[in-house]
Amino acid sequence: MLKDSFLPLGEMNNKDRAAELRKQIEFHNIQYYQLDSPVIPDAEYDKLFRELQNLEAVHPELQAPDSPTQRVGGKVLEGFSPVRHAVPMLSIRTETDIEASGAYNFDTRVKNALGSTAEIEYACELKFDGLAINLRYEKGVLVQAATRGDGETGEDVTQNIRTIHVIPLHLKDCHAEILEVRGEVYMSRKDFNQYNDKQRAAGLPTLVNPRNGAAGSIRQLDPALAAKRPLSFFAYGLGEVKGWTLPATHGGILDALEAFGLPVCKDRAVVKGAAALAGFHQKIAEMRDSLPFDIDGVVYKVNSLTLQQELGFVSREPRWAVAHKFPAEEQLTIVRNIEIQVGRTGKLTPVAKLEPVFVGGTTVSNATLHNEDEIRRKDVHIGDTVIVRRAGDVIPEVVGVMPERRPQDARAFAMPKTCPVCGSHVVREEGEADARCTGGLFCDAQRKQAILHFAGRRAMDIEGLGDKLVEQLVDEGLIHSLPDLYKLDVATLAQLERMAEKSAQNIVDALEKSKSTTLNRFLFALSIRHVGESTAKDLARHFGTLEAIMQANVDRLLQVPDVGPVVAQSLADFFSEAHNIEVVQALRDTGIHWPDQAGAGANAQALAGQTFVLTGTLTSMGRDEAKAKLEALGAKVAGSVSRKTHFVVAGVEAGSKLEKAQELGVPVLDEQKFIELLQQFQSL
Ligand code: IVH
Repeated sequence: MLKDSFLPLGEMNNKDRAAELRKQIEFHNIQYYQLDSPVIPDAEYDKLFRELQNLEAVHPELQAPDSPTQRVGGKVLEGFSPVRHAVPMLSIRTETDIEASGAYNFDTRVKNALGSTAEIEYACELKFDGLAINLRYEKGVLVQAATRGDGETGEDVTQNIRTIHVIPLHLKDCHAEILEVRGEVYMSRKDFNQYNDKQRAAGLPTLVNPRNGAAGSIRQLDPALAAKRPLSFFAYGLGEVKGWTLPATHGGILDALEAFGLPVCKDRAVVKGAAALAGFHQKIAEMRDSLPFDIDGVVYKVNSLTLQQELGFVSREPRWAVAHKFPAEEQLTIVRNIEIQVGRTGKLTPVAKLEPVFVGGTTVSNATLHNEDEIRRKDVHIGDTVIVRRAGDVIPEVVGVMPERRPQDARAFAMPKTCPVCGSHVVREEGEADARCTGGLFCDAQRKQAILHFAGRRAMDIEGLGDKLVEQLVDEGLIHSLPDLYKLDVATLAQLERMAEKSAQNIVDALEKSKSTTLNRFLFALSIRHVGESTAKDLARHFGTLEAIMQANVDRLLQVPDVGPVVAQSLADFFSEAHNIEVVQALRDTGIHWPDQAGAGANAQALAGQTFVLTGTLTSMGRDEAKAKLEALGAKVAGSVSRKTHFVVAGVEAGSKLEKAQELGVPVLDEQKFIELLQQFQSL
């Protein structure tokens, strides 16, 4: 068992430490390469591996032919036939620093090794987070695909690879006797999410991350099952080549592979010098979250093949390439407690209170556990060591537990029967994943969230009314319901913590300014269950006045496009509640007003009934602005393309939505045509 066999890595001599590190690394290699069930995040493994590499570098007497640093992966699994690589599949050195110095260090090493001061040309690529694969084409036909294995011998996974649609079974215009193409098999974020959604709905196990998804599918013995998991591929290099004249540069190789019909990632560049390498690293770091797949860094390669040959290898790593990593998106930490957060509509969300950990570029001390079922499914206990993931702007989440590290005094979690904030009953309706507090606006937590929502940028847009202030206002009994907000004066606000005369005045001004709004913002601001921003817009557009909406019965509400029975019932319930009608009236009495939708300009309905989808980047205006302009003309702006879409507006780097539009024959407007359309109805 892991826990018993490992000594702490504290005070021990170098020899023992190297032996201990090897034991641990070998254990994790088996978990990762042979069993497809890694028990620690990559960053943790990399740390162990780097430490052993450093130790062996500083103490050459510790080097050993059987050290895991001398191999690239684990042994061949039974079940797949072994494939001996004609050219070994090597690994590359990794720079893990967060700043740009990785690029400068690499450039300096290359120049020193070449004894040159001239600027070096580099090919820059993304470091894809998947599984390395060698594709063997003979006379342009795919004859074999193999995993890396230990670098010398991999596994024959041809059947599974053939199920990947983006991998060509024969190449275009390639007559090379042998052409081995190397690259990464990966699972896109969208495919990963869809797969997990389906599994969850069927009560089946989910994938921890897209990389495990890719590795697990390729190593799946049943190709029919593998085919069900959607995978993709990017080529990044070559293996054995016979009967083809190599281009002079790595960039040239990638262009040639692309011309053969192989997928090569567009986000690549050929640049000169260290500053340009660092620039590429920065640009990609900024793009990381919006890419459709996971990457864990960038790769720099000396572009000239002649120079690559001159540089050669050091301890099985090429001197001409380096991977410059980004901060890891997964880390290990400990769950100190599980607390309950009460949301605006009473939803109880269990939140893991964590030992603070640096992950995905920031320090994280809270991670959502979603709901009771998720906690049970992942088997999270208080005291557990867990894997926390924070990718992009997404809320950090606990993706898995390391059961072998569970302490004896670990405690299971139980959803409370009463609300921890107001003491009201907690209910969980049949078929619902969420438990809810029944306290309504009697519950301080719900009231705080409802006020914050009301003040939000997309609702009443009350600048400066943030969570700390709302917390104080509710806790000190200054606000009981929404209309109380508008009774606040400078003197009352100025005496609160962290407030001064000036900031108090700003809040009062912002409150005053918010009184001039739109009907849809006001409706959205009320926190009516199931009424989001787009439903609020549909309602405002359809009924024109608040009175009409308040008086509408379920049947009339159902006539609004996109309003279904759940939304209609929720609205009818809300406006049948005397208390809610009082709140709405009191808000209007403060002077909140909006333009009359019915008489909103001659062109207000010019695009009524037309559904638009925006994709890519527009150069002359932001997406929100484009959306607002379309909506002002009565159009609806949807998030995804379907047969019901009337137009797709495609900006720069439009992706899958554009493809979908072309597939379905939906008319596509480029930016110029879109602007012309707007100009027909209004002056831009
Ligand atoms: S080049 C000799 N390029 O990173 C050079 N590797 O240690 C061989 N990887 O697991 C690798 N993206 O699968 C190269 N653009 C890229 C890559 C890449 C991901 C993976 C590769 C291997 C590791 C390199």
